[in-house]
Amino acid sequence: MAHGSANTAGRPKGDVKNLKPLMPYLRPYRLHIIAASIALIFTSSSVLGMGKGLQYLVDQGLGKHDTALLNEAFWMLMGVTVLLAVATYTRFYLVSYVGERFVADIRKDVYQHLLTMHISYFEVTSTGELLSRLSTDAQVLQTVIGSSLSVAARNILLFVGGFALLLFTSARLTGYVFLMVPVVIIPIIMIGRRVRHLGREAQKRIAEANAHAEETLNAMRTIQSLALEPYENERYSQRITAAMNASLGRISTRATLTALVIFLVFGAINIVLWIGGQDVLSGSISSGQLSAFVFYSVVVSGAVGAISEVWTDVQAAAGAAERLSELLALKAEIISPQTASEKTITQQASIRFDHVYFNYPMRPEKPAIADFTLDVESGKTVAMVGPSGAGKTTIFQLLLRFYDPKSGAVLLNGVDVRDYALPQLRSLIGIVPQDPVIFSGTARDNIRLGNIHASDDDIIAAARAASALDFLQAMPSGLDTYLGEKGVQLSGGQRQRIAIARAVIRNPKILLLDEATSALDSENEHAIQQALDRLVAGRTTFVIAHRLSTIMKADQIVLLNEGKIEAIGTHSELLGKSALYARLAELQFKTSS
Ligand SMILES: Nc1ncnc2c1ncn2[C@@H]1O[C@H](COP(=O)(O)OP(=O)(O)OP(=O)(O)O)[C@@H](O)[C@H]1O
Ligand SMILES: [Mg+2]
Repeated sequence: MAHGSANTAGRPKGDVKNLKPLMPYLRPYRLHIIAASIALIFTSSSVLGMGKGLQYLVDQGLGKHDTALLNEAFWMLMGVTVLLAVATYTRFYLVSYVGERFVADIRKDVYQHLLTMHISYFEVTSTGELLSRLSTDAQVLQTVIGSSLSVAARNILLFVGGFALLLFTSARLTGYVFLMVPVVIIPIIMIGRRVRHLGREAQKRIAEANAHAEETLNAMRTIQSLALEPYENERYSQRITAAMNASLGRISTRATLTALVIFLVFGAINIVLWIGGQDVLSGSISSGQLSAFVFYSVVVSGAVGAISEVWTDVQAAAGAAERLSELLALKAEIISPQTASEKTITQQASIRFDHVYFNYPMRPEKPAIADFTLDVESGKTVAMVGPSGAGKTTIFQLLLRFYDPKSGAVLLNGVDVRDYALPQLRSLIGIVPQDPVIFSGTARDNIRLGNIHASDDDIIAAARAASALDFLQAMPSGLDTYLGEKGVQLSGGQRQRIAIARAVIRNPKILLLDEATSALDSENEHAIQQALDRLVAGRTTFVIAHRLSTIMKADQIVLLNEGKIEAIGTHSELLGKSALYARLAELQFKTSS
């Protein structure tokens, strides 16, 4: 995660045709785009018209000392200026509006799509990478759609129109201008490249510093407990200094570039004025024509500069578009079947694992589960025990269909879980994980996640059933107390009781419990035990057991070892027939007093 965001800077630029797959996102806004284009054509042509107006003003008004004509020209120019302002407002607003909507639509679609991706996708993709696509890449696209493209269109019009008018005004002077173009453009392009390179360097350094800050701020307890403050401080300042130096390098090159641009452009204009001035003196052109000529040279050179600047944005956007359409094109591997089983599950929830073989996609060589066959009748409780890494949690993940078996099948009421619609299957299952996730928000919000349609009364009832009501009500704002990011304001036992309440409110047919290994104080322990006993009653339950009391209550105990069932039976049976079980019982099972 920490390194994901560092990849944002200096990402490869894309081929412009990569923008194409995202173009359908513009379709709903085509009327806006048409209106903006009309405004854009109007503004560009009025800018071009101004040069002619200037020529007219200089020759007819100033040259002939005619005040009335000067006034007339003044009012005409004022009129055009007002229209220009209105059209610019329209174009700017519409284009930015389209940019915002376009990117918001893409962000929503990408997020929605990611929500449907199979779990193993998230094992191979870093969160930082996905976040940077949603934030940075989307942002780059927004800049281009919401501004750069219209800037480019306007400047292309200005360039073409301005160039035609240059030729029309004085073909000879245009020839001189074009002799000067390479002298001005080539150094600007070369230094511009260096500026961009240094800019990417600086961004990369900043991203590294940010990634470092993010990782450490998220692990403050670890850092302070290891007394790493001076060490981390040093590492962060080094990165910030590196970022600052990279930035300063860019700034000094950029300053040189600006100075050079000013020198070259104004120098070139000066030369044009000098040559053109001689033409005026010799009478081959009028002073108005010279004025218009200088005006158009400024317009055309400005347009060239703007287009070259925008081109980089467009390339960056093409890269961003490629990465975003890649995400949108991902195919989820775990999906609901075309025709899901119609069978609605009312009372029964019997489960059968039928010769299940499974290995995690990332570990193709090592089976996590091998030849696993187990029948659990509706309403019964199975305790799973076994050494760490035996495959206990994997069984839960297969039931939830986070993964599909490589061969064999998991059956629910005799129907393969792959034949149920995913939401239906998962709505039947409640989980209390070992280390529950608490989302930022209130206790009420967190419990409601188990069933987002639950009423406030349901939430209170669930909290009570989970033995959580007392401690929740004792908090400053009761159930509406904000629990802090990741539930940092709660104890481990309290987090677990919220998770139990979340499972209670779901009223699931199947219950998956991963018992906490960490020791809880006896009061907590007792409260949780009671809550779990209430929860388990009447449901088909799989429990990864670490406590003797849980094991004793189970209908059958499954001893897992290296993905295989080593033995099944009751506690005393297993003690008799499995040395591994006897050893585990001695070392692992905490007797709850
Ligand atoms: N997402 C994953 N990708 C690859 N391998 C995994 C993944 N999750 C678990 N494994 C591997 O699969 C095996 C079984 O893991 P599992 O989590 O089911 O063990 P467990 O019995 O729950 O252990 P513990 O008691 O420590 O929680 C282990 O070897 C583990 O390293
Ligand atoms: Mg586990």
